[in-house]
Amino acid sequence: MADNSIEKSSEIYHPSAEVVANANIPEYEQLYKYSCENREQFWAEQADHLRWYKKWDKVLDDSNKPFYKWFTGANFNIVHNAIDRHLEDATRNKLAIIWESEAGAVRSFSYHALNREVSKFANTLKSMGVKKGEVVTIYMPQVPELVFAMLACAKIGAVHSVVYGGFSYEALAARIEDAHSRVLITADGGFRRGKPIDLKSIANEAMKRSPTIEVCITVRNNGLDVEMESERDFWYHDLQSLPVASNKCDTEVLDSEDPLFILYTSGTTGKPKGMLHTHAGYAVYTSTTHRCLFDVKPEDRWWCAADPGWITGHSYLVYSPLINGATIVMYEGAPNYPYPNRLWQMVEKYGVNLFYTSPTAIRGLMRFGERWPQRHDLSSLRILGSVGEPINPEAWKWYYEVIGDSKCPIIDTWWQTETGGVMIAPLPITPLKPGSCTKPFFGNEVAVVDDEGNEVPAGEEGKLVIKNPWPGMARTIYGDDERYASLYWGDYGDKDYYKAGDSAKIDEDGYVWVIGRMDEVLKVSGYRLGTAEIESALVSHQAVSEAAAIGLPHEVKGNAIHTYAILRDGLIGDKALEQELKEHVAKELGKIAQPEDVQFVESLPKTRSGKIMRRVLRARALGQDEGDLSTLEE
Ligand code: PRX
Repeated sequence: MADNSIEKSSEIYHPSAEVVANANIPEYEQLYKYSCENREQFWAEQADHLRWYKKWDKVLDDSNKPFYKWFTGANFNIVHNAIDRHLEDATRNKLAIIWESEAGAVRSFSYHALNREVSKFANTLKSMGVKKGEVVTIYMPQVPELVFAMLACAKIGAVHSVVYGGFSYEALAARIEDAHSRVLITADGGFRRGKPIDLKSIANEAMKRSPTIEVCITVRNNGLDVEMESERDFWYHDLQSLPVASNKCDTEVLDSEDPLFILYTSGTTGKPKGMLHTHAGYAVYTSTTHRCLFDVKPEDRWWCAADPGWITGHSYLVYSPLINGATIVMYEGAPNYPYPNRLWQMVEKYGVNLFYTSPTAIRGLMRFGERWPQRHDLSSLRILGSVGEPINPEAWKWYYEVIGDSKCPIIDTWWQTETGGVMIAPLPITPLKPGSCTKPFFGNEVAVVDDEGNEVPAGEEGKLVIKNPWPGMARTIYGDDERYASLYWGDYGDKDYYKAGDSAKIDEDGYVWVIGRMDEVLKVSGYRLGTAEIESALVSHQAVSEAAAIGLPHEVKGNAIHTYAILRDGLIGDKALEQELKEHVAKELGKIAQPEDVQFVESLPKTRSGKIMRRVLRARALGQDEGDLSTLEE
């Protein structure tokens, strides 16, 4: 083709000559082979892009599988890389963060200013007695102070546990309890669709149930009148004016394996798992994937439109772009407020080059039609990313053609809270097949296996596994080593495979097609929710004796939550009770978990061992064949 659009050939999209010429990584196959055959050497070379107080003795310590350690013997701090080193050159005066609020307020911070804000926050935490290794819980809207708070914890060696601002007080209290946090950082609230959202009162409710909390620091953001308890609650801006909040703070010299954060994610049981990530391996892995997959250049403006309360926000909104010295765009608000052009307006306004979002966001905006993006000059865009769930080819093509003007590669990235960073994705030079996350990232060998761990033939569905350790992997489930070992590593005997919990296929060209979760985990608008959590929220209502939750396909959300409830004796289900139960789940877990409907039933299909057969409920709801019913109880 004469222009620089990507050539199309029967559903394979080849990169343009321009993309290839600009690629940070011009070749895949050879480097991939090298990275797998010389894994430690490869990661040592990547680690050399970072700054170490003291280099490692060993790249990989696998003496206590599956508790792998990386870069042992080294001294390191992720903040030394994300901020400190940038103060020594011209990056110092470059914008680190451009933040826009829903109402249109703009705040921006150079790397110099970021260092000042993080140092002040770090000193404030120290003045509250925060110590190395202590877990600080953060419950905030998407404001710059959330980023400062995370980096401040890391700077002094404290461990952050960010709880997504959409979660309820129950969910927040459960996470505070699991982490034994003494300090909570929150805000008065945020904004959504022009309306103030109250976070502090949710935090207050949670703290009533959290005896470990001694200190709560509240950032003023939306100006709501909130209840402050003397001796426990402090306004951040008051603390800022104290001499202790000086803007000079030494970054703590840490061990490479010192914990950086815990992030809770849903699993098969009702209890969320606190995935623990550490400083050095995570920094090396996220910054390498960010640099290679998104072709990040020093002059680039990077927008990861995820909430920092999720792993995507941790890895690709906060840490890796700062390590790579990029300028981050951040937005607090609804993507279609006041109109569905909001994101595209911001792409044009800030000249965003690299844009990373979720299929659910794309589908949500696609509904409003092409005319909204077409009002804007999106020519600054060079690469588009997708994450969180499989992207359906229709949304892929819309993203590619309408947003990317058929010239930006779509980097469909498969990974998880547990993996820390992207595991399977194309490089910008990789020929693309819409709906496939394509090939493993360097150093990773992936396979699709049967129950015994044997690889299934090309094109057949099976369980997705990773055959090797990688630096960004979670180190454990906080406080539960045993659960970590058995849940992720126990299935295939002496094959040390990491079990992802997804089903997938690998086609004849080696392209990976992820189909979805195999366990009782739902992806709703890209959020990960356990059916067990939803069911236990329903059962916590006095009217319900048993419940089941399933996901059914939804045009925008990917999956929508549908539930079934058996009521307590003598109670009759009606519309009003259905509404009450829906709201009850939202209150218990957060709005994202609110079911579409609650159907009142007399019984639920169960196995003889008493497990609810959600598969049968799903098949019935979809009018499909119910499959093998031999294990169904009478
Ligand atoms: O099922 C996969 C799906 O999201 C799960 C991980 O969810 P979470 O820990 O919340 O992390 C999401 C952001 C990294 C996976 O087990 N998933 C994530 N990305 C993709 C995906 N499924 C298909 N394609 C993807 N690109």
